Amino acid sequence: MSGVPAVVLVGPMGVGKSTVGRLLAGRLGVGYRDTDEDIVAAQGRTIAEIFVDEGEEAFRAVEKAAVRAALTEHDGVVALGGGAVLDPDTRALLAGHRVVYLSMRAEEAVRRTALNVARPLLAVNPRKRWRELMEARRHLYEEVATAVVATDGRTPEEVTQAALDAL
Ligand code: S3P
Repeated sequence: MSGVPAVVLVGPMGVGKSTVGRLLAGRLGVGYRDTDEDIVAAQGRTIAEIFVDEGEEAFRAVEKAAVRAALTEHDGVVALGGGAVLDPDTRALLAGHRVVYLSMRAEEAVRRTALNVARPLLAVNPRKRWRELMEARRHLYEEVATAVVATDGRTPEEVTQAALDAL
């Protein structure tokens, strides 16, 4: 499929981008694409394996290319990995798109992600790491967002409805 994504989802790890992205795509009657899944499929390795084998910098280069491909090839809903907005070219590419930032409080984030070993950046001291990551990234999510949807205390269906209302 080629074209401009209907909606791009950004936000931190564990906020529910994949779950909400699929629901949102269903409600809009469009396809769903997730750049983390694209990377795993293309590389034949998990994200954690890429981090261990080659380090974060190499992962970011692969991620940047995957994001560019998704944003230029797909006309459905696209969910980006939590760190994709770190790249200035990616942020520039997001200008002109409908970008929904799914936000959540730290307590909720840690509860949702602490036990998930698939996320290498939170493997050690997850609570402290999550706060540090958000300190560094919150303004980047806000910079690219055309809408912000808080997820705390909401079911994925409620978040999806709020995202639709905000579009
Ligand atoms: C990362 C988020 C992850 C994944 C990788 C790095 C980050 O994606 O891309 O582990 O830097 O925040 P999710 O946000 O989909 O978990």
